[in-house]
Amino acid sequence: MDYFEANSERFLEGLKTWLRIPSISTAPEHKPDIRRAAEFIAAELRDAGLQNAGLIEGQGHPLVYAEWLGAPGKPTLLFYGHYDVQPPDPLDEWKSAPFEPEIRDNNIYARGASDDKGQTYILVKAVEGLLKTRGKLPINVRFLIEGEEEVGGEHIAAYVAGKPANLKADAAVICDTEMFAPDLPTLCVGLRGIVYGELRVEGASHDLHSGVYGGAAPNPIQAIAEILCALKDRDGHILIPGFTDRVIAPSEKESAAWARLPFNEREYREKEMGARELVGEPEHTLFERVWARPTLEVHGIRGGFTGEGAKTVIPARALAKLSMRLVADQRPEEATAQLKAAVARVCPRGVTAEFESIHGAAPSLVNPDNPFIRAAASAMAEVFGGETVYIRSGGSIPIVGSFDQHLGIPSVLMGFGLPDDNLHAPNEKFHLPNFYRGIRAVARYLDVLGE
Ligand code: BES
Ligand code: MN
Ligand code: MN
Repeated sequence: MDYFEANSERFLEGLKTWLRIPSISTAPEHKPDIRRAAEFIAAELRDAGLQNAGLIEGQGHPLVYAEWLGAPGKPTLLFYGHYDVQPPDPLDEWKSAPFEPEIRDNNIYARGASDDKGQTYILVKAVEGLLKTRGKLPINVRFLIEGEEEVGGEHIAAYVAGKPANLKADAAVICDTEMFAPDLPTLCVGLRGIVYGELRVEGASHDLHSGVYGGAAPNPIQAIAEILCALKDRDGHILIPGFTDRVIAPSEKESAAWARLPFNEREYREKEMGARELVGEPEHTLFERVWARPTLEVHGIRGGFTGEGAKTVIPARALAKLSMRLVADQRPEEATAQLKAAVARVCPRGVTAEFESIHGAAPSLVNPDNPFIRAAASAMAEVFGGETVYIRSGGSIPIVGSFDQHLGIPSVLMGFGLPDDNLHAPNEKFHLPNFYRGIRAVARYLDVLGE
């Protein structure tokens, strides 16, 4: 029985303890929990045998750092993860409480189980296993774990930009993505970027009786609807001038590989999404639409009367939460400027409309021929069996762009989530076999790189 097998129960108990801490980064009332979650993982890193383990304080939620640099001449990996989680609502849709982890059918259910405490813990336990059994690692590692990923990662971005010498590494490793299917070793080689913000629309100076003034008064909610329809047509084409100019189409080789992925569109639509029909740009395949094309989505509209019953009012103002997902080679600043210009151009008369960005992140794309990706592919294949597939993901991990831009290093996205993990939704779970195999795959990866 090896160390990983002998300690599997203890690993699970450790993860449960971490998952019990409601480290919701967006909620100010959870600030003490955020700190507890950071301290918990810093202590784990210290106990694993890493050096200089501790919190990096600054503005915002603390970063957690640790290192082991005892293999001169060998490569250095920068392990990244996030200890913050999304809010758990709607609470009544959870089968067990979000911060009381429960095991059912070989899955651990809790907010953060897969995104990203369970996956970050994989990195920690892989290193612990090697250090406890051998007293050393085959290569050098640094850990940088943040508590603001789910709110845009502003402060870690500033840290990486400001202190690149503290983070010198040859590649970053991130376990915060999904495998394409259970048992299918997967590496993610592309993530979308994002611009998230608010569209604020103002009409009259105060709410108006809709009978007395209807027919003459500007309506900000109607204006939001008109603006949205002018920005994206019924086939999902984004109509923002210049917006898609920098979009790079996937190569024929990549598209052909996507076409070979084992995929059942009907199951995806019915089971995974529960949707009647898939929509979006008809001239692009599904994988192109979710991995290699930009989007414009509305997340919520606030304004007017939404209570029970009826109230005849024309609201004075309204607000929409919007995001654009970006793909290589789009740039968040440029896309924001293009959106602002487009909003100004299509804004109906009688109202003002202003888009203000809340956070942004660049898209990322790595070449699978990179030696760090190749080594990861072979470690994944060894542990999971079969050949590793390369996919992209439509989600965003903001720091990946900073690692590329400020540290000049590629990110190896070695994720162990599954498509039905319910990220950001009720009943988030992490598949326990992936937790345990993930630990072995990361440990194996270090050995492959050390050879
Ligand atoms: N881990 C996810 C991103 C992800 C999910 C990548 C699934 C690949 C597959 C990450 O925690 C996340 O949710 N990111 C946010 C970023 C945003 C808040 C800046 C996202 O994508 O919405
Ligand atoms: Mn995540
Ligand atoms: Mn997330």
